[in-house]
Amino acid sequence: MNKNNIFFQHGDRVLIINDNIFNTTLVKRKSIDLIVTSPPYNVDINYNSHNDKISYEQYIKFSKKWMSRCYSWLKDDGKFCLNIPLDKNKGGQQSVGADLTKIATEDVGFKYYTTIVWNEGNISRRTAWGSWKSASAPYVISPVELIVVFYKKNWEKTSGTQESDIEKGEYLEWINGFWTFNGEKKKKIGHPAPFPVMLPQRCMKLFSFKGDTVLDLFLGSGTTLVASYQNDRNGIGIEVDPYYCQIALNRLKKETDIDSGIVKKFDMPLDRKTRLKKYFITQSDLILQHFKDYPAELMTYNDIREWIKDEVTKGSFEPIKAPEKIMRSLVKNKQIRRLQSGQFVYR
Ligand SMILES: C[S@@+](CC[C@H](N)C(=O)[O-])C[C@H]1O[C@@H](n2cnc3c(N)ncnc32)[C@H](O)[C@@H]1O
Repeated sequence: MNKNNIFFQHGDRVLIINDNIFNTTLVKRKSIDLIVTSPPYNVDINYNSHNDKISYEQYIKFSKKWMSRCYSWLKDDGKFCLNIPLDKNKGGQQSVGADLTKIATEDVGFKYYTTIVWNEGNISRRTAWGSWKSASAPYVISPVELIVVFYKKNWEKTSGTQESDIEKGEYLEWINGFWTFNGEKKKKIGHPAPFPVMLPQRCMKLFSFKGDTVLDLFLGSGTTLVASYQNDRNGIGIEVDPYYCQIALNRLKKETDIDSGIVKKFDMPLDRKTRLKKYFITQSDLILQHFKDYPAELMTYNDIREWIKDEVTKGSFEPIKAPEKIMRSLVKNKQIRRLQSGQFVYR
């Protein structure tokens, strides 16, 4: 057990683990009552420490791998609420909701219970029209996300305190599987893809008892831990990026009455300078990542310049100065190769 990865601990109530979910040994087998999580969607979000632009095949493999970990962490009467998009169109149309549901049940062994449709009121996704007013290729998008509910072996929960805290009105409203509430503001939270506290809170009150242990293995800005603390559950969060762990800790201190705890590792100042210096991906990292994403492609200086132009237009990152110089240095460090034709390729 590597205790060095404990970022923050407050008795049994809160545990923030700063580690990769595939490496951590800090979560015991069959110890979790409820998992509420939203994985990366592979839609090219600029996370600090995670590459959100892999091929769909790689994404499917990644999903199978992390869901298998979830299966072993859950108790036999544990439940799993998975927040994912219904589908996606970035990098080609994909039925993410259906594909991940199939993996969870057929490959990993979860049992399917239901799907809650979350109408997050995100109208900005409706701006693409396709073949405007023509049936040739219209663009259809549903501005909703899913919360797919699975369980491990037994749907009925027999372990735990048996003490529920859901009120009559909440129960009546929430068992109607069409939930309407707004998404969370990225800028306010300081994370590129937070969900609102309302989401894990509803899942917890519907599917777990007071005193249960709730896990979010893609913790991000710590939303699930805010909800678990506020609702008298024990919360465990895993997050690979230390900067996001710090955001989670700051939110806990601000949004709950948690007032003590042992900060084991960092208490990182969140000023922009430190953040840029320590945790921001460098221009060189970005270019190298592009080569990693397309390992079979031969790229010229011009291809890289075009790619940078596109990404800057999309707002993914700031203009990169002197990419040629960066590529020369990547060659020198043997991270990419220059072929005799003058083209470049990943290693
Ligand atoms: C969609 S976000 C979760 C946001 C979260 N629900 C919130 O409200 O802030 C996914 C998170 O998973 C983290 N992540 C990605 N791969 C990971 C891994 N292998 N291990 C741990 N965390 C990972 C990313 O850094 C990112 O913060």
